[in-house]
Amino acid sequence: MKKLFSLLLVTVLLLSAGSALAAQKVGVAMPTNSLQRWNQDGANMKAELEAAGYEVDLQYANNDVATQVSQIENMILGGVDVLVIASIDGSALGTVLQTAKDNDIEVIAYDRMLTDTPNVDYYATFDNYKVGTIQGLFLEEKLDLKNAEGPFNFELFAGSPDDSNARYFHAGAWDILKPYYEAGKIVVKSGQTDFETIAILGWGTDDAQARMDNLLTNYADGTKLDAVLSPNDSLALGITNSLQGAGYTLENFPIVTGQDCDMTNVKNIILGYQAMSVFKDTRTLAAQVVKMVDAILRGDKVPVNDTETYDNGVFVIPSFLCDPVFADKDNYKELLLDTGYYTEEQLKVE
Ligand code: BGC
Repeated sequence: MKKLFSLLLVTVLLLSAGSALAAQKVGVAMPTNSLQRWNQDGANMKAELEAAGYEVDLQYANNDVATQVSQIENMILGGVDVLVIASIDGSALGTVLQTAKDNDIEVIAYDRMLTDTPNVDYYATFDNYKVGTIQGLFLEEKLDLKNAEGPFNFELFAGSPDDSNARYFHAGAWDILKPYYEAGKIVVKSGQTDFETIAILGWGTDDAQARMDNLLTNYADGTKLDAVLSPNDSLALGITNSLQGAGYTLENFPIVTGQDCDMTNVKNIILGYQAMSVFKDTRTLAAQVVKMVDAILRGDKVPVNDTETYDNGVFVIPSFLCDPVFADKDNYKELLLDTGYYTEEQLKVE
């Protein structure tokens, strides 16, 4: 009888533990599935969260803010315990984040900061300023800006102004390059240097291509264009399409930077049409977020490594910053193939 009772007790305990686990659900809101990186982010996180025993509601919002808001509302209605959000417009989610708060749901901003709200708990990202620094340093080194006389002709691009990352990327790169610009060693023939003018709303490849087409009219007189600062790969693709369309060849191709190591761009690196891409291993970020979700749901201390940088306009969000590196033709095999990020087949170029 005693034995039967303890068996019953164990069963009841196991069942309640089981249902408590089953109730733990994570909502993952991603901006779009039209860019390779977000597909990888979403897929990695879903797989890792599920492997850790959580139920996952993963949604992509087609880069439409209203869609993302209603997806998050539905996640809240569906009873999620934690929200992981990669926003489209970081400042546009205030109302739905208030609803999350009212329902005691903790929120992790994923990759992009959530701004102008007190209702975000943590931020997990790559060091965005460092992404820009890496791009600036790469250009400095490739053109030997420290020693060469120049001047070198540059054109500049920045990312979407509604994405706070874009300003960090730009600041990181421009802090390296600006002294050369002020000294006249870097020349921007179009005269377009301020963030608002060089920004591409929505990070679109076609828009970047159209702007580059326009900028190239300044070079129709045969002036050599030496470099184009591009914050990421979707813009770099538009830029290199434009340059190729205008007849630039591998003999005179400007140095173009990027970020994300999207497959098409890595192929361009192999071919010589893009010089580098900052590599943000989405597996690292996803794994970090899983640790944070885990800590939140267990009531443990959530791992962060930066409590100073990311002021969202209301407070400084406790953040975990992963470390970016860059890939170029010399190290991409080691970085992207040997680690299993891509297969050789995926990077095959004709
Ligand atoms: C991300 C970049 C990405 C860009 C466009 C940024 O917020 O940090 O990795 O290239 O958005 O999607």
